[in-house]
Amino acid sequence: FNVPLPKNEPVLSYGKGTRERQLLKKALEEARARQVDIPMYIGAEEVRTQNKKKLSPPHDHQHILGYYHEGDRQHVEQAVQAALNAKELWANMSWEHRASIFLKAADLIAGPYRYILNAATMLGQSKNAFQAEIDSACELIDFLRFNVYFMSQIYHDQPESSPGVWNRMEYRPLEGFTLAITPFNFTAIAGNLPTSMAMMGNTVVWKPAYTQIYAANVIMQVLKKAGLPDGVINLIYVDGPVVGDVVFSHPDFAGLHFTGSTKVFQSMWKAIGENIQKYRGYPRIVGETGGKDFIMVHPSADAKEVATAIVRGAFEYQGQKCSAASRCYIPKNLWEEVRKYVVEDLKTLKIGVTEDFSNFINAVIDERSFNSIANYIDNAKVSQMNEIIAGGNYDKSKGYFVEPTVILTKDPSSTTMCEEIFGPVLTVYVYDPANFEETLDLVDRTSPYALTGSIFARDRYAIELATKKLTNAAGNFYINDKPTGAVVGQQPFGGARGSGTNDKAGAKANLMRWVSMRTIKETL
Ligand code: SER
Repeated sequence: FNVPLPKNEPVLSYGKGTRERQLLKKALEEARARQVDIPMYIGAEEVRTQNKKKLSPPHDHQHILGYYHEGDRQHVEQAVQAALNAKELWANMSWEHRASIFLKAADLIAGPYRYILNAATMLGQSKNAFQAEIDSACELIDFLRFNVYFMSQIYHDQPESSPGVWNRMEYRPLEGFTLAITPFNFTAIAGNLPTSMAMMGNTVVWKPAYTQIYAANVIMQVLKKAGLPDGVINLIYVDGPVVGDVVFSHPDFAGLHFTGSTKVFQSMWKAIGENIQKYRGYPRIVGETGGKDFIMVHPSADAKEVATAIVRGAFEYQGQKCSAASRCYIPKNLWEEVRKYVVEDLKTLKIGVTEDFSNFINAVIDERSFNSIANYIDNAKVSQMNEIIAGGNYDKSKGYFVEPTVILTKDPSSTTMCEEIFGPVLTVYVYDPANFEETLDLVDRTSPYALTGSIFARDRYAIELATKKLTNAAGNFYINDKPTGAVVGQQPFGGARGSGTNDKAGAKANLMRWVSMRTIKETL
């Protein structure tokens, strides 16, 4: 049977007086009123340890959301074993039955769990209501539904046969177990990485970022409620290097699905390479890593549109989207106008806790991140080449708050123009309008990454030139739009160069990485 093409989950507004705002407020109050005790999930067990760690909202140090139970080496070993034990039954289950579990999970999130999961993302990761809605509700629901659709397309894709010969293709799960390492910045990605592997018949060890455990726990509850059998996805909270040590030296390791830093991904790839002879096969390695996403503006662009794209593209979710704009190239003829709009707009944006629906900017994720962003801002301030034209302040007394900061630089290869900051910091370089083409070359070679980027222009020749010259500068390229907010099924997401293996999350190409094909020819 064929799964029909799904529709994207509609985004709720959470405007004043709406029913959804009421329900979300209730979920936030309930979450605030209790402290959760979060176990690891290994096979059929909920595992609790002596090592309990506190979880607080990044925007409110005083409050305690709950505790999670940190594990160690033996828990990684147990999770691997649980995944291996669950493998045979799960891999042999028909794909329709596997699919129904993930469709049910999507329905649960679209229904009763929407507000619980959004509240968890708001409190645990400091997203405002809209940012939580497009992530932990809509994008995660879309990932689950579209992946089921792509999965059905894959299984239906069969080779030609001829008289006397019947050919068929089997899409076998990978032999062994797989590992998902997920980031803090999108609950949807945290949900997508383990489920996309599981969908294709694999069993998974899932290690989320510590800063995303609060919502990861809710995802796990949804999957259990949807009927996911024990051991198919095993959720553990163990230090990354310990997980890597156990998993990458295991002969049954079959695949890694990763989103996180370039440095960590490269060290994992190395560890896998070093162990390559131990494995039964060549493990599949899929990763989305760093970015230094750009907005390039042509002299023919509309200044107001550019300013809006800058504010939303660089500062939504405090600039912590992997897709967030962090370097911008503006022609001199437009700069004063763009600057005026950006500075005016930023003045109207409120900074504060997520539970207050009028705040646009919330806290950055944790102290390490706060310190690193503050350090970039401080270093930028002391350079003669830079001028801070908006923001520049930070304060961690109540929560990890950093003002949206715009740096104007005379040096197109300055640190903040080149390095990934992962916070609300945008650097602008103003170029001579006569040098549009040279500036495109500059955009292309300034960063080792290639995740997202935008061109703003009304001149179609300029758009075409930028599209061609920046062929390899971004895996997701936007024309007259901000470089964030890819929608599943519409703009498959991922980048190349230092940004990852570009296997596009929420796409058929991604699911193909989690199967190994067997061609069968039968002579009749
Ligand atoms: N998909 C997100 C975006 O496009 C990033 O992961 O903003």
